[in-house]
Amino acid sequence: MTTTPARTEAATTTWRVLPAPHATSLEQPEAWAYRGIAAVESAATTAEFGDDDIAPRAIDVLVGMKHQQYVRRERLVAVEDGPDGAPTVVGHGVLFLPLADNRHLAEIRVVVAPNHRRRGIGSALYERLRRRAEEEGRTTLLGEVEFAAEPDADDPDALRPPSGNGLVSADLPGMAFGRRQGLGLELVARRSALDLPLPGGAAERFEAEARAVAGEEYRTHTWVDAIPDEWIDQYAALEQRLSVDEPNAGLDLEPEVWDAARVRMVLDQNAERDQGFVVTVAEHVPTGELAGMTTLVWRRDRPACTEQESTVVLPEHRGHRLGMLVKAVNLRAHARLRPETRRIYTWNNEDNAHMLAINVALGFRPAGGSAELQARLADLPPAT
Ligand SMILES: CC(C)(COP(=O)(O)OP(=O)(O)OC[C@H]1O[C@@H](n2cnc3c(N)ncnc32)[C@H](O)[C@@H]1OP(=O)(O)O)[C@@H](O)C(=O)NCCC(=O)NCCS
Repeated sequence: MTTTPARTEAATTTWRVLPAPHATSLEQPEAWAYRGIAAVESAATTAEFGDDDIAPRAIDVLVGMKHQQYVRRERLVAVEDGPDGAPTVVGHGVLFLPLADNRHLAEIRVVVAPNHRRRGIGSALYERLRRRAEEEGRTTLLGEVEFAAEPDADDPDALRPPSGNGLVSADLPGMAFGRRQGLGLELVARRSALDLPLPGGAAERFEAEARAVAGEEYRTHTWVDAIPDEWIDQYAALEQRLSVDEPNAGLDLEPEVWDAARVRMVLDQNAERDQGFVVTVAEHVPTGELAGMTTLVWRRDRPACTEQESTVVLPEHRGHRLGMLVKAVNLRAHARLRPETRRIYTWNNEDNAHMLAINVALGFRPAGGSAELQARLADLPPAT
């Protein structure tokens, strides 16, 4: 199932870095690279979190590489040759280059298998991707470090972002590495987990309380694995609004550009990745306007967990408990669709007090988070 990778480009005695060959199906021989990337992600996620619930799978890598209209991706793998001469992926790096908006940004993700760290592999991947970001004329570099637990406030290694909200440990490998590369901590996002099933009647109670405040002017619609054509433009507008409204501290992010075609691309990707989802929206009945929405997404081959994605309420409709309403309705739908699921994960910027308050009220508990790092390329020392 493996082919010999192309000629070495950055060589050391035991490992080398090369562009990941592209496969259009996981059955193709070239798919060794995407499978290897997934194995590295799984090992790294398990080392930090104790499970690989949130690690991307090979199919996620493949489908992302197939759909590059909005964000271009360049992938490198670090490989060692196994005893049979077949390449084993020991680390990978990916450069994300937004195309429809945020054309000044480049995001780098570098992950090295835990038993291959401190051998210079991460640096080699990072430096090549950083050079590519410069060649593409990007001016701001972003990186992310995921972690299983926030440190205590009195921990001497605890770092706070400029906003003062949230903490991350300076001695995480990713933080030590990122800071060494010249990236600065910009914000901390909290990962929260909601254990399922919810206590009997809890979601119904949240829904009833929220409906009582929202009143007759709002009604909800819930859609499974589809967004009806007649709502898709409004749904796209809500996604765009989220990118405007979500607090992003000092991250150099511009609003994203969303339209029906972009929503359809996400729906296509969900189908190709064998992902299910449920969306609940709140319609403002007098105007027919979509006032808010929330989405839960799951991988069908990972029954234990689901991820909470976008939730947004338009500014002119805030203060009517619509955030709680759509979430409670969606949780009830999810319980019917996925009774076997044991936890839902969500990520919120620590500055996003309103969203965090809703999640805490629903029973979400802190479960680590992610640190967002940033640098202006012009401020970094020249790449070696
Ligand atoms: C971060 C990561 C990619 C580093 O990979 P790596 O191959 O070990 O990195 P390198 O060997 O090139 O390390 C380069 C330098 O970073 C620093 N560094 C890396 N890991 C470190 C650690 N655990 N503790 C302290 N410093 C560390 C050191 O200065 C190191 O140089 P040195 O070994 O000469 O002291 C790897 O630990 C990883 O996959 N972590 C999880 C994913 C992640 O957080 N990625 C985010 C990157 S922005």
